[in-house]
Amino acid sequence: MLKIGVLVSGGGTNLQAIVDGIESGSIAHTQIRFVISNNKNAYALERARKHGIPAQALSPRDFASREAFNEELVRCIDSYDVDLVVLAGCLLIIPPQLIEKYRNRIINIHPSLIPAFCGKGYYGLHVHEKVLERGVRVTGATVHFVDEGTDTGPIILQKAVEVKQDDTPEILQRRVMEEAEWKILPQAISLIGKGLVSVENGRVRIREEA
Ligand code: GRF
Repeated sequence: MLKIGVLVSGGGTNLQAIVDGIESGSIAHTQIRFVISNNKNAYALERARKHGIPAQALSPRDFASREAFNEELVRCIDSYDVDLVVLAGCLLIIPPQLIEKYRNRIINIHPSLIPAFCGKGYYGLHVHEKVLERGVRVTGATVHFVDEGTDTGPIILQKAVEVKQDDTPEILQRRVMEEAEWKILPQAISLIGKGLVSVENGRVRIREEA
C-alpha cells in the first residue's frame, strides 16, 4: 500500500483526480492519509472531507516565524508516516528540511512543459497568460520530483496539449487540466506505487510493467 499525503492551496481538481483514480481502481493500492492546505478556504479541503480524508489548514500566518511553521509542517507530515508527498495545486514554498528528508518522495504537478514557462512567478493562470503571450502552439503539463529549486527536479511524466487560436488563459488552463494534469498526476502516483520509478544521475527511469 502506497501511503500518500497531499498539499493543496486552491480548488483541488488535481486532488479530486487522485481521489477518483483511487476509487475507480486506476490507482491501485494507494491511500491518501492526509490533505493539508496553507489556505483555510481552499475548496480542496472540502473535497477531502467529503471523502473522509483527514484535512487541515496549516498557514504560515498562524506562526510567529516561517521557521516555526516549517518545523510544524514537517512534524505534521511525519506524524502520518507517508511514503510520498504530492503537491497538487500547492503554492506553498516547501521547506528545505522537508525536501531533504523526503528526497525524491515529493512530486509536483506544473501546468507547462518544463523547462518552458516555469520557475519563479510561473504558477496557476500566469503560466497560461505567458504561453498565449509568446504564441506557442503546444503547451501541456509536467509531473516532477521536487528539489531545492523552483520546478527544477527530475521530470517523471509530461503530456502535450494543443494551444488553439482563440484561447483565453482560462480556456487554456481548463484544457491543460482536463487533457494533461488530471491524467499524468494519477498516472505518476500509480507508477510510483508499483515501484517502477527511480532516479538515476538526476534523471527519472520508468521501468516497463511486468
Ligand atoms: C492548476 O493550474 C495546477 O496546475 C496548478 O494549480 C492550479 C489549480 O490546481 N498547480 P487545483 O485545481 O487546485 O488542483
